[in-house]
Amino acid sequence: MSLPWVEKYRPQTTAEIVSHERIKSQISAFIDQNALPNLLFHGPAGVGKTTLIKSIARQMFGPAYQNQIIEINASDENGIDVVRDKISAFVKTKQLFQTEQKTKLVVLDECDQMSSVAQGALRRIIELSAGQARFCLICNYISKVIPPLQSRCAVFRFRPVPKEQCIEMLQRVALAEALSCDNQTLNAVYEVGCGDMRQSINLLESCAMSGKPMTHELVFDIAARPSQTVSKQFIQPMTFQERYDYSLEILASGVSLEDLIAAVYKEIMKDSTVAQTQKQKWIKSLAGIEEAMQLGADLRSQLAGFVGTISDLPL
Ligand SMILES: Nc1ncnc2c1ncn2[C@@H]1O[C@H](COP(=O)(O)OP(=O)(O)OP(=O)(O)O)[C@@H](O)[C@H]1O
Ligand SMILES: [Mg+2]
Repeated sequence: MSLPWVEKYRPQTTAEIVSHERIKSQISAFIDQNALPNLLFHGPAGVGKTTLIKSIARQMFGPAYQNQIIEINASDENGIDVVRDKISAFVKTKQLFQTEQKTKLVVLDECDQMSSVAQGALRRIIELSAGQARFCLICNYISKVIPPLQSRCAVFRFRPVPKEQCIEMLQRVALAEALSCDNQTLNAVYEVGCGDMRQSINLLESCAMSGKPMTHELVFDIAARPSQTVSKQFIQPMTFQERYDYSLEILASGVSLEDLIAAVYKEIMKDSTVAQTQKQKWIKSLAGIEEAMQLGADLRSQLAGFVGTISDLPL
């Protein structure tokens, strides 16, 4: 079976990773000076945190890098004792015929899922292994990592991949797969992914696998997101009943109310003819509806509220 595109096109070197220029150059400088500190990467999903640490390991250790790095998913392991045992066994292992012990790399993914007691114990493990290993802690939410752990690391914040770089990577994949996609299609893929490169590449693959011509409409359709045509049409003048029926039609095509609200919100924000104070009022009511949805409120009543809010638009 062939590899999914996210793995097939996972960058192998730091140069192939798009965006994160400052982080890449700072870490390269640490490596050049042979002074890599413990690292803490945090940021949203699918932006290249794991890919970057793997490419750094390749850069530091060469082709045999697999022997010098251990990846532990903190949320998979049953408690800090298992983590401690794994790490200490790993740092002590010496390769056959290797005369001097090289510093190893311990990657602890999803460390924000560890309890604060386990994180507390990790401080000690990091200190005891200082002679033999460097740590790279990875998480989505830095606020869940205890401050003493943060202070033992050089902290790097990963941002969502910006539009230009995301499209550059998508073009690279499309070229390698001999896919013909115009800019509008790639823009749509970016718009759905919002800087999550993994999601964008997965979506591009799903669209290609559908066997249909690559268009922005196909992208929105496969992602079950309302297209711009739909959201533009949605705020055109019509009666409450017409808009309510139109919403039901959109929801029946698989779009969620949350996604419809997000698309309409974007459309309103783009409209330069609407006064700022008016926009604030609508955003407040849209936010109220979204919150109620998340708390499990009834779909139909929230839909009616949403259509009512939009019907207040002075069109
Ligand atoms: N900056 C990037 N440049 C090129 N490809 C990227 C980039 N970021 C992510 N990707 C693609 O997305 C896939 C997933 O990236 P990665 O595993 O590094 O994400 P992550 O930030 O570790 O996410 P998570 O927090 O969910 O673990 C990679 O295999 C690669 O195909
Ligand atoms: Mg990761």
